Amino acid sequence: MGMATTTRAIKPQAVIDLHDRCMSLNYPRYPVVMERGQGSRLYDSNGKEYLDLFAGFGAGLLGHCHPDLVNAVTDQAKKLWHAGNLLHTDPQTRLAEAISRHGFGGRSFFCHSGADANEAAFKLARLYGQTLPGPAGPRYKIISTTGSFHGRSFGTMVATGQTTVRKGFEPLLTGFEQVPYNDLDAMAEAIDDETVAVIVEPIQGEGGVNIPSAGYLPGLRTLCDEHDMLLICDEVWTGCGRTGKYFAYQHWAIEPDIMTLAKGVGGGLPVGVMCASPRVAELYDCRKQGVVKHATTLGGNCLSMAAAAKLFDVLERDDLVAHALEMGARAVERLRESARQTPAIKRVRGVGLFIGIELAPGTEGSTLEPAWFENAKEVVDRCMERGVLINSTQGDVLRLAPPLTISQDDLDQGIDVIEQVITGQ
Ligand SMILES: Cc1ncc(COP(=O)(O)O)c(C=O)c1O
Repeated sequence: MGMATTTRAIKPQAVIDLHDRCMSLNYPRYPVVMERGQGSRLYDSNGKEYLDLFAGFGAGLLGHCHPDLVNAVTDQAKKLWHAGNLLHTDPQTRLAEAISRHGFGGRSFFCHSGADANEAAFKLARLYGQTLPGPAGPRYKIISTTGSFHGRSFGTMVATGQTTVRKGFEPLLTGFEQVPYNDLDAMAEAIDDETVAVIVEPIQGEGGVNIPSAGYLPGLRTLCDEHDMLLICDEVWTGCGRTGKYFAYQHWAIEPDIMTLAKGVGGGLPVGVMCASPRVAELYDCRKQGVVKHATTLGGNCLSMAAAAKLFDVLERDDLVAHALEMGARAVERLRESARQTPAIKRVRGVGLFIGIELAPGTEGSTLEPAWFENAKEVVDRCMERGVLINSTQGDVLRLAPPLTISQDDLDQGIDVIEQVITGQ
């Protein structure tokens, strides 16, 4: 006899009231309760449909409730959730193998978030600095770039090149410095005897979808080689096919020493990855070091790993990385064509399905009028009213990061709405 299932109708106001009464109010949320998702679509508790061109900060890499991920997680849920990292489990190793094969042959440490992954990278870099000290002792300084975002933990917020993130949390962890993004001379200048690593987003995400010039990443690689420093690529936004390559550093034909992943890698489940080249990963090798240098209890838990391992299977099987490249190129071309005719659009940046539209409110003929337009969030809000979810960053940049599974029709339909809002239609 089957069990009766009861579905409780969600009362949006009750959810919002409970949130307001019992939850930490960290996030400026819309007064909408999302109830379910399917593919590129979300549905709120009133049944309103949204085309999701942001996928929850890019984490829904394969869209909502992808059937293969649902099956992988459901099957795993019936077998084993968590065994602890003193024991081997199969899903972890499958994911590690996929990352290694598609990347640079590195070894993966699993955790829960981008901040977590970057912390693991910073600690590893400090160990590296101990093994190769400078004249003044162990090297420990890590250089990052202005406009970057690496997380909100104590280490990552000081690596983040946006001062508002760390304001109020002093005294801060020392050993971090920022130089302007896309400026190799500034980077070269900042390196001293105590510098051990550079952390960089191959394409800056929170900073406004900023794509560096062709020589930047290769130049950083050379600088790191010359100074025996580690190049850490923060691929939390850009990893796993988002930009039309498995990992964004591959656009520049270089390899990092360490790569960090989160957001999309879990397909919506919490997964962070710190993947290091074997030479560097040795410093976390408990067989060689004789001690555990870094760990986290639930890192690599079976459910998250089953989803992430399956996500790579689907990327491969459905050729979604090439799809992202192609769809993104078409969307950027279309948006650039619009920009030529629309004074309200200043610039369009994008690689694969990671796209930024920089608005130009003050320009002559701009339809972004002071009567309604304060910043790009106003456009985001209007798109949401019309059932299209996008995001904004840095005040004047709209961000699109749709699922890699999105169809041409859906993407076109979403861009139609964005263009209508921008042009005041
Ligand atoms: C490039 C980058 N690195 C790290 C992080 C931090 O990731 P998480 O929010 O999972 O801690 C973010 C978050 O936006 C990010 O964009």
